[in-house]
Amino acid sequence: MDFELSQDHKVLRDSIRDFVAEEIRPLAMQIDEEHAIPGDLVEKIAAMGFFGSYLPEEYGGAGLDALSYALLVEEVSKACGSTGVLISAHTSLACDPIYRFGTEEQKQRWLPDLAQGRVIGCFLLTEPNAGSDAGAIATTYTREGDDFVLSGNKIFVTNGGYLGTGIVFASSDRSLKHKGISAFIVDLKTAGVELLKNEKKLGIRGSYTSAFALDQVRIPVANLLGKEGQGFKIAMETLNGGRIGIASQALGIAEGAFDLSVKYAKERKQFGAPIADLQAIQFKIADMYARIEAAKLITYKAACMKDKGQSYTLESALCKMMASEAATFVTKEAIQVHGGYGYINEYEVERMFRDAKITEIYEGTNEVQRVVISKLLFA
Ligand code: CAA
Repeated sequence: MDFELSQDHKVLRDSIRDFVAEEIRPLAMQIDEEHAIPGDLVEKIAAMGFFGSYLPEEYGGAGLDALSYALLVEEVSKACGSTGVLISAHTSLACDPIYRFGTEEQKQRWLPDLAQGRVIGCFLLTEPNAGSDAGAIATTYTREGDDFVLSGNKIFVTNGGYLGTGIVFASSDRSLKHKGISAFIVDLKTAGVELLKNEKKLGIRGSYTSAFALDQVRIPVANLLGKEGQGFKIAMETLNGGRIGIASQALGIAEGAFDLSVKYAKERKQFGAPIADLQAIQFKIADMYARIEAAKLITYKAACMKDKGQSYTLESALCKMMASEAATFVTKEAIQVHGGYGYINEYEVERMFRDAKITEIYEGTNEVQRVVISKLLFA
């Protein structure tokens, strides 16, 4: 057991840190205020190869491992949770299922554009009446000759507003519940796909959270991902990987707020001395650090297990749950350390507090993570 990052991982992390310091951190407040990640930042992220981090080079990726991907999302999210989830949802929820479940032809067709960031990926599973109960989706598909035709409504689609490549889940027969679900690769510019709205949100405001109507969307049979009826399994396996991405995002947000709190506690003077001298503040910092460290260990462990080809369903649910709860705890305490200043939006911890909350909800609420964990423990 070795708790040190390898030299290669440290070098990679440091180069990501440099990019984040130069290109992302200065824009984080603006991204939140303007509810948008500037297009030229997306292009710079693409040029860095961040959109194809763990896809093999033959598909235009950087050929890195899942731990590197976790470090990437963590480092980016320390500065900007919106940009963190742009990369995470794209990588985990669109690139990964095509890479893991796609045919060679599908990989050649879809992955290079995604890996190079020419197209942004997303995942269309959730519906107005099917959130945690993902097996209850009502979007339908039928086969018509050499095409599949999809109709229904999808909501809460991270990155949906880019109208790139979506992994869409639909059912052939709702009475079959999860066994009737299939997964499809859909170009979201296809006729019949209508972007209804991008939601206004508490946090991660620079990230698109989109609602779509699918009206008789006709796609070739070649766009079926995996086999018919395998869609729910593909969704679950994809989310297992995705939860490592969200844990990394949450971890990054927590660390960003922690770093600012330590700095502020050393600078801010009350009662004639820095507030870092007060035990009330020291204990908060210790508690924040403890949550971060526990979340980091389980997140890196889940990523390493994925890299080794081991089953990591339990660890991915655990890290998503622990890191997101660390993020909401740490950002709340960060505001308290900052006192009244923490509550105003000139101070970054205010944004981080808002950004943290969603990590307890998306890619499976923490209640769903507890279902997954306890089922495996009792199995
Ligand atoms: N990994 C692999 N397989 C899994 C699995 C997992 N994590 N969870 C369930 N399965 C398998 C089960 O083993 C079972 O397989 P068999 O048919 O072979 O027995 C099958 O899936 C059905 O499982 P359940 O009977 O447990 O299914 P269920 O209907 O009771 O639901 C659930 C289980 C865990 C609650 C599941 O529905 C779930 O994970 N819900 C949350 C969905 C979710 O995370 N949504 C987020 C969408 S993405 C998003 O947030 C937006 C975004 O863009 C970021």
